[in-house]
Order: sequence, then structure tokens, then C-alpha cells
Amino acid sequence: MSAISINTPEEYQKAYKKSIEQPEQFWEEIASELLWQKRWDKVLEWNFAEPSVKWFIGGRMNITENCLDRHLSQRGNQTAIIWEPNDPRDKARKITYSELYSQVCHFSNVLLRNGVRKGDRVCIYMPMIPELTIAVLACARIGAIHSVVFAGFSAQSVADRINDSQCSLVITADGLRRGARQSGVKTVVDEALKQCQSVHRVIVFNHLGWEPNMVSGRDVWWHTEMQQVDGDCKAEAMDAEDMLFILYTSGSTGKPKGVVHTCGGYTVYMEYTFRNVFQLREKDVFWCTADVGWVTGHSYLVYGPLLAGTTTVMFEGIPTWPDAGRFWQVIDKHQVNIFYTAPTAIRSLMAAGVDHVLSASLSSLRVLGSVGEPINEEAWHWYNLHVGKERCPIVDTWWQTETGGIMISSLAGVTASKPSHAGNPLPGIQPVLLNNQGEVIEENGVEGYLAIRFPWPSMIRTTYGDHERCRVNYFDTYKGYYFTGDGAKRDEHGLYRIIGRVDDVINVSGHRFGTAEIENAINQSKHVVESAVVGYPHDIKGQGIYAFVICEVTPDNPELLREEIYESVSREIGRIAKPDKIQFVSGLPKTRSGKIMRRILRKVAEGELSNLGDTSTLLDPLVVDQIVAERIL
Ligand code: WT7
Repeated sequence: MSAISINTPEEYQKAYKKSIEQPEQFWEEIASELLWQKRWDKVLEWNFAEPSVKWFIGGRMNITENCLDRHLSQRGNQTAIIWEPNDPRDKARKITYSELYSQVCHFSNVLLRNGVRKGDRVCIYMPMIPELTIAVLACARIGAIHSVVFAGFSAQSVADRINDSQCSLVITADGLRRGARQSGVKTVVDEALKQCQSVHRVIVFNHLGWEPNMVSGRDVWWHTEMQQVDGDCKAEAMDAEDMLFILYTSGSTGKPKGVVHTCGGYTVYMEYTFRNVFQLREKDVFWCTADVGWVTGHSYLVYGPLLAGTTTVMFEGIPTWPDAGRFWQVIDKHQVNIFYTAPTAIRSLMAAGVDHVLSASLSSLRVLGSVGEPINEEAWHWYNLHVGKERCPIVDTWWQTETGGIMISSLAGVTASKPSHAGNPLPGIQPVLLNNQGEVIEENGVEGYLAIRFPWPSMIRTTYGDHERCRVNYFDTYKGYYFTGDGAKRDEHGLYRIIGRVDDVINVSGHRFGTAEIENAINQSKHVVESAVVGYPHDIKGQGIYAFVICEVTPDNPELLREEIYESVSREIGRIAKPDKIQFVSGLPKTRSGKIMRRILRKVAEGELSNLGDTSTLLDPLVVDQIVAERIL
């Protein structure tokens, strides 16, 4: 794995220089180490105006041959997946590379048998069990485009996502367990499918031994289907630029959009980033705590680790059940070497007290990672001291659903690391900071809008079914750049510190929501006339959701009305988007043209009342006084 490995500061410098001066040669060498059915004719063609980005043009391959087939001779008997159940009293499952290969091939044949063909879209709505990974890989093997929907989303969200990409089949399970709670999963699918015409088949995995309603002619059981097929399934020869998956994510406007990733570039970038950021070693046990329903789970629970032939841990439960020591016990139990989690999880475990973490050994750990939102210094130090015992480098990895993989991060123990800073860009990544005029700020010690000036293999290709939306969202604000939506600082040494979103997107516990999306959900509530949502700093979640709501009449029982609003949000999006604070107001601060002045609402939510700015140009300046007087602490 020579071209892929960057293990010293000198190698980093050299690789970075080469990636700028000869980007095509740089990526070609890395791509050459993967298994291709046909080599590419040309490395790259691109323009950010349309945008049109193509990598490894003419190349043919299949990501599952790289995740599975090519490992069989060397590591067929090595554990690919360690599955840790929700309840520590239940038995963990270990699945070897040969077993995973066999399961994936069988399930690929199940999909084929049920009419799925290359290019078809398949929705996967499942709990955190190995069958979720098997379903993902089986889709990829036959060239079906997977669209995984996080099992915490509501029936309405599932329906919207299925309809947007016209999925023909859904893979699901009877139910899920998270901590002390169990809930139906198949029932959510049933509810969603009332609104979906495109789905002709549902495959149900029996996880909890429940007896869900099975619609005859539409629903079949995973296990009975698996008995009907054999384990020979040739991997489909995918064009490098064929779609691999769609993953829906929120933006500042409208419904979530389907971010599209393609086969060749995504594969190359996942193995490259996974190996280098975490400084992977042979026999490592890697644990990413993200759900496969988010991009972190796609890239660093499923694809990255399997491409690199690592043992990847998949955990069904939550960090705080049966107690706040669960993560640390799992690390000791499975001798985890590399642990990758989110700042929100660290903060919630910090709040539970240090005893839990101190009662575990954690001596197997070598590298720690953080992802999803800025990690505050306090959480960084706690992670470093109590989890890493000050001997494990921490990688603070900045990236996005749209970037496919890690973009800015130190390489564990190799390049400079500084609390609360993501660090340097990976070789191959060319970030810039732009000022208000869209000009590049060259110096260090500055702050600006974070954009990327050159393509990388796993970047977003389009938003499914609406290419214009992709152009407007990411390539139009600053011509010639991919715009991230984040603001960032660059220190005197060139290290990046991500400050947070500069658009109307809020990041709650590492999950992205558009303020417009939450407002739409709130507005579905019977008595609501209008609403405005902003984020505010939250000790555990990073950002909390603060909603200002106008009702038809002043509510006599505000608690009842709040319940109604929670109900709407749970129905439209899912419980994860529930507002933390709801303030009923008689009006919203608007400009004369009717635009809501979110800046003022944000200040109120943050409690920064001394500096509300000029309110004299508002349609009705008095509403601000009322909002301030009645704000929720
Ligand atoms: C947004 C992307 C990356 C996968 C999980 C979230 C924020 C992500 C960091 C970090 C500061 C971060 C950014 C970004 N973000 N990682 N290490 N430091 N901020 O993926 O849902 O696509 O959200 O998460 O604001 O734009 P996502």
C-alpha cells in the first residue's frame, strides 16, 4: 500500500506538494492500488460552472470486490464486523470476511430475484445490525443505488425520500432497540408506503422476533428469501461514474436533497482517507459510533474499514444505557484500537461524571477521532485526558455529506494537532477562505468562508433528479468554487478551525437540519400561523433549536400547544428535530419587504441582548421588545 500511505511529516509535505502540482498523477497512483475490472482512460475532467466532475473516466470496477473479494485469500478468516448488541447481556456477533462475502452474495441474489436491476434505487430503513451493512453491500454489488434512511426519521420523511428517487424496493426490519426503548420499524415503512407508488417489494429482516403485518404480494421475509438463493454472485462491472448511493441531507431551503456519490472516486477516496487519517495498522479494531444512516456510517463504519480490510465494530445501542460507561466497556471488551465519535457524545458522557470512564482500562486505544461539529476545548481536553490518557492523538475530522470523506484533519500523530482545530487539509484537498466579496484571502491568521477550489474524487456529483439545485447550492455563491456553507479561521501556522455554518442550517448533536425544514413542520400544526427557527449554543447538543411561533389566538394553555407542535415535528421529520424551546410571539421582526430578520432572533436565542443592531428599519420595531421581554431562558 505504498502510494496510499503517508506516515511522516515529510511524506505529508511531499504528498501535498505533488497533489497540487500533479493532481492527476497523484490520484492515479492511489487508484492503481485498488482492484479495477478495466483501467480508466483519463483521470479527470471537470468544471465547477455546470458543475461536471468526472474521475477515472472509462474505468470499470465494483466497490464490493474491493471490500470483500480481494481480501478473501489473505484475510478470509479475519473478523470483518464485530456487532455489539444494545443489551450487554446479549451475545456479540463476529462475522468474518468470508462469511460477510457469502452473506452479501446471497443477499445480492435475493435482490435480483425480487426484480432489482442495475440503476434501480433501493431504500434501506433498518436498525444498527449487520444486515444493514449486508444490504448496503448487496445493492452495491449488483449496481443498485442505495438510499439509506436513518431509522429515527418519521414515515413522512421516509415517504419523501422514497418518492424523490422513486425507489422500487425497501429493505427493513421488524423493530429496533435503543437503550431501554424498543420501537417498530416496519410499521413506519407501512405508514410511509401509503404515499409511495414506486415500491413493489419490501424485504423484512426478523430482528426481534415480532410479527409485523406482512402485506401479501408485497412483503417478504429476509430469511425465507435467503434460503431460495445460492452464494454465487458476480459483481456488476460499474462505470467509475455510475451512481453508488444517494444520501439525503438538509440544506437551507426546501426538502432534504439527495446527495449523489459515484463508484470509482468514492472508493479511492475512502480507502485513502481511512488509512491515513487514522494511521491504520494491520489487525486494528476500529469503532465508529455513527449510525449507518448518516454519511459517517457509510464512509467510516462500512466502506472505509472494509476497503482497508479492517475489523469494524457496529454498536446497536446508545452511550448512556444501561449506564454512561457503555462505550468504555465496549472498548475494553473488543479491544478497540481506534475510536471515532462525535463531540455531542463526549459532552453527554462528561456530564455523567468521570467515574464511568475511570473504571475502564482503555489500554487498547491508540487513536481517537471526532466528527460532526466543532469540538469545544473542554470536551477535547476531557477526551484527551480521560479516554486517551494523554497518549492517543486526536484527529478532529472536518467533512460533509457532500464531500464523501474527510477533508481537513491532522493525520494521527503525524501532522500538527491543536485543540478545537481540524488542522491541515489532506493531500489532494485545496481549501480557501473567501471574504465577503468572494475574493481569496491568502494570508494566515484570518477568518472567512470555507470553499474548495479543485475537485477531489469523492465530491458530490449532483443532487438526485435536480442538477440545478446542486449548482445553485454549492457552486453559484462563489463562482469557480465548491462552497461548503461553513465559516472557518486559519491560524498563523495554516491550521484550520471550523467555526460553524454561515447559512440557515443548524447542527444539532451532529445532525443537520434546515431552519426552513423545521419551520415547515411546525407550521403543519393546526393553530400555528407562522414560525421562525434559529439555532443557539447548547451545552450537550452543540446547537439547540429555538422556535418563535405565532398562533391564531394567544394560547390559553401553552403547554398543550407545545405538545401539538412536538407532535407535528415528530410526524414530519422525526423526534430528533424536536425544538428545545418554543416561544409564542405575536409578531416576528421583519423588514419592510417581509423578510424575517433571523440575525435578531439568533441574538435573542443566544441571550446577547445588548447588541441587537439597528431595529429601526423593521416593519414593526416594537415586536422586538416583546420578544426580548418574553424570551425563554
Ligand atoms: C457539517 C456537515 C462530517 C460527517 C458528519 C456531519 C459540521 C462536521 C466537523 C468538524 C467542525 C464539523 C460542519 C459541516 N462539521 N465535522 N470536525 N469540526 N464542524 O455531516 O451532516 O453533512 O454535516 O458538519 O458544519 O458543514 P453533515
